[in-house]
Amino acid sequence: MKRFILSIDILLLVLPLSAQKYHGLALTPPMGWNSWNTFEVNIHEDLIKETADIIVSSGMKDAGYTYVVVDDGWEAPSRDSIGNLVADPEKFPCGMKALADYVHSKGLKFGLHNCAGRTTCNGYPGGMGHEFQDALLYASWGVDYLKYDWCDHGTGDARQLYSTMRDALYAAKRPVVFSLCEWGNNKPWEWAADVGHLWRTTGDITDCYNCQGEYDMGMIFILKLQEGLEKYAGPDHWNDPDMLEVGNPGLTPAESRSQFSLWCMLAAPLMAGNDLRKMSPEVLKILTHKEAIVINQDSLGKQAYLYMDQLSKRIYVKELSKGDWAICWHNTGDQAYMQRINWSHFGFLQGEYEIRDIWRDKITGTTAKNLEIQIPGHDVLLFRLSKKSK
Ligand code: GAL
Repeated sequence: MKRFILSIDILLLVLPLSAQKYHGLALTPPMGWNSWNTFEVNIHEDLIKETADIIVSSGMKDAGYTYVVVDDGWEAPSRDSIGNLVADPEKFPCGMKALADYVHSKGLKFGLHNCAGRTTCNGYPGGMGHEFQDALLYASWGVDYLKYDWCDHGTGDARQLYSTMRDALYAAKRPVVFSLCEWGNNKPWEWAADVGHLWRTTGDITDCYNCQGEYDMGMIFILKLQEGLEKYAGPDHWNDPDMLEVGNPGLTPAESRSQFSLWCMLAAPLMAGNDLRKMSPEVLKILTHKEAIVINQDSLGKQAYLYMDQLSKRIYVKELSKGDWAICWHNTGDQAYMQRINWSHFGFLQGEYEIRDIWRDKITGTTAKNLEIQIPGHDVLLFRLSKKSK
């Protein structure tokens, strides 16, 4: 009997260890920079270090950007003789531990990409069958964030493979934000809250407003795929509509402002994907806009829902903490229109609110008075409403 009780004790100790993610690492949507959108596999440790430097010197770190994530292309073509992953010696001559140390020395956190399948989408070694070994290696390097892709998984089951990696990360005893990148194929919003901290909801984004390719799509298509997913997002478990294209060549300034505003509304992870070495002041202003970011990082963790969708007029509403609301009008058409705002149409408002126009950086009256404001094509109007006399 004593023996029986003992083994139950041991089981109780071991079970939770093997079946959970590191909780509390992403109570608000993660923010950072990722190499993929601009550089794809053309990466080098000098680029990553320079990017980390700029995140600090430009004020992005102070604005909340924390994770520097090296995406696909960092690996040598094969594992070493004992099966460990190896960094490409030409791209990363000092190795990943040294790079992580550098990023940490800047007060930032370090992220890497790999894949739940046998190989990554660009043919580098994937994690399948090596999860526990890889997690230990990542921990020894000081990895804080793992983006885990979905190429070459064969008949593998998504929930099972991602859970194995979650367990491996937990067993390696280093807190790692776990970012599932299986493109929404297996509805991760229905099962991944216990597995990772964020999960991609779509295929890849590209830097255009409304184009669609075989493997990627512009922001308008990505936005469409977020509708109805709002109920699955919350602190520590976010829908990820893919990274920011803000400042990349295919988006106009208005489109960059729109993507940023809408990703803030959607409580989406804010992973910049532009070349920070060439960033204009206008793009930096968008990426570091404090009040837009405060909407994204609101502690309630609510994802905006589509409140109205009429021709090219879309209105998104996000509930904020302390009774505040964020409302975003998005003009998806090419031409400007005059938006008439009749506050009585927003049934969720109770009483009078002060209106902060986020991009014009000013208070623009209260909801006691209706408004008329022009919204240029592909642009947004982003308001924060705060209850008067709270
Ligand atoms: C895709 C992923 C991209 C990028 C790329 C690297 O599957 O969605 O964000 O990581 O793989 O090969």
